[in-house]
Parts: sequence; C-alpha cells; structure tokens
Amino acid sequence: MARKIALAQQADKFACYEEAIQNPRKDVLFLTKTFQSEFHRKAIWLREDFCGTAAISREFIRSDFERFAVGVDIDSVAIDWCLKQGLLSLPSGSDRLELVVADCREYEDKRSYDVISANNYSIFLLTTRVDLLRYLKHVKCCLNPSHGMFICDITGGSDCFEKRKVKRQRNNLVYIWEQDSYNFIDASWQCSISFQFPDGSALKRCFTYTWRLWTLAEIMDALYEVGFTKMRIWFSNFDEASESVYEETRIIPGSVKSWNAIIAAFSYG
Ligand SMILES: C[S@@+](CC[C@H](N)C(=O)[O-])C[C@H]1O[C@@H](n2cnc3c(N)ncnc32)[C@H](O)[C@@H]1O
Repeated sequence: MARKIALAQQADKFACYEEAIQNPRKDVLFLTKTFQSEFHRKAIWLREDFCGTAAISREFIRSDFERFAVGVDIDSVAIDWCLKQGLLSLPSGSDRLELVVADCREYEDKRSYDVISANNYSIFLLTTRVDLLRYLKHVKCCLNPSHGMFICDITGGSDCFEKRKVKRQRNNLVYIWEQDSYNFIDASWQCSISFQFPDGSALKRCFTYTWRLWTLAEIMDALYEVGFTKMRIWFSNFDEASESVYEETRIIPGSVKSWNAIIAAFSYG
C-alpha cells in the first residue's frame, strides 16, 4: 500500500518563506517611488544586502530592463536556491543580476550604488554598536555620493518583549511567527518562523534568529553618525491591521504595541 508523504516533508523552506513572508513587488515599487521622489531620477543599481534568496533583486531586474542588481548573502544554500529555483521565475535579465556569497560587512566591489537595501529586520543581525556602525559606514561608502539611498526595515513596540506566537494564513500555508525571549540587558531577541500545511504537518522553526532589537532612534543616530544627512520614516501599525500598510510619519506613539517601520537614509552631493 502506498504511504502518504506529509506535505511538510515535500516542502521547500525557501519557497514557503517567499510565498508567506515576502512581497518583492511591493518592496520594489516602494523603493522606486521613494528614490524617484527624492532624486528625480530612476534607480538603476541596487545592492540587496542579507539577500537570502534575492527575491527583491530578481523583482528589481524584472521591473525594468535598464536595471542591475547585486545580491549578497553569507549563506551559500540560500544563494544556490536562488540560482536553481528563484531564477526560474525570471524569464530574462538574469545577466543583469549578480549573486555573491559574502559577509555584507565586508563585501566590496568598485560600484557606486543608487540603492542598498537590508530587508526583513536584517539590520538586527548586527548585534553590537561597533558592528552596526562598521556596516553602515561601509554602506555609505558604497552608495553614490550625490544620489544614494539606504533602506531597511525594523519592528518594535511593547509586544516584542512578550513571549508570543502569531499565526497567519497565506494561501494554503499557515505561517507561524514565534517570539521566544527578550533580554533587557543586551536587547537580544530570539525569534523563529515555522510553516504549517493543510494536512497538519509542519516545518518547525525552519528559520531561527538571534537579533539585537535596536530602536529607531538608535539606528537613526548611527546613520547620522556615518554621514547620512536626511532620513524619512514610514510606519505600519500592527495593532490595527495584520497586513502592512505604511504611512510616512515623524511620530510612533509609545501606545502602539506592535509596529513595523521602514527607514530610508539619503546621501546627497
Ligand atoms: C532575516 S533574513 C532576510 C532575508 C531576505 N533579505 C528577506 O528580505 O527576507 C537574513 C539573511 O541574512 C543572511 N546573513 C546573516 N548574516 C550575514 C552577514 N554577515 N552577511 C551577509 N548575509 C548575512 C542570512 O543568511 C539570511 O539569509
């Protein structure tokens, strides 16, 4: 008798991540509009730091035939996935995409980028102020000095300090976000992602993170310190919506228990 194989056993964690968590079209539209409104020109060169499977780089290339992207990640498995699976959804233009297995804190080429991005809380991977400043200084040097934009996103609010589990349905997939612990001494934050399938099977904690929960003020201070002169902030209030709806703001009230923010920092000549 044929044995039924659980859906989790057949699942691909990177495909699940892209399906349940990422929205590269929205991200690329956002960075395109923001860059255009700031510099009145088209962003041509993107470096996607901490790129994972480089979903944003692929969408950036797909969105415009004049564009080029470089995706950098330390994990060769994620980069290989992009080469073998991710590029299947990019019918043309892959010659305008470069993928690099490297540490973003050190990776250097001779290019001057219009945009450098660090998405999905990747800035939280830099757990000390020395490391954060070192990375941001490096980003500043790699951006075009007269029209460069760095973009990253973070989360915050008092819910971050709680041990909690949030479940969201995405198509046929249930995505489970777990906050395991927070330490007020060093602001370290342990979180994980699991996926559950219609047959009840699950890919448990297939992505785990030990992050530094930086505040917006700390990141903005560091960005000013390395030489960025202008910043804009957009905020999405998760107390009110489960989907991210961003609006530009100068205030995020302390009463909001769960929020996401996008920070764009600009370098001008
Ligand atoms: C939170 S995931 C973000 C993935 C993707 N950027 C996204 O938007 O969903 C963080 C990624 O950073 C990578 N990473 C961690 N430390 C790194 C480093 N020092 N340099 C480059 N990549 C790093 C991990 O391998 C992982 O793919």
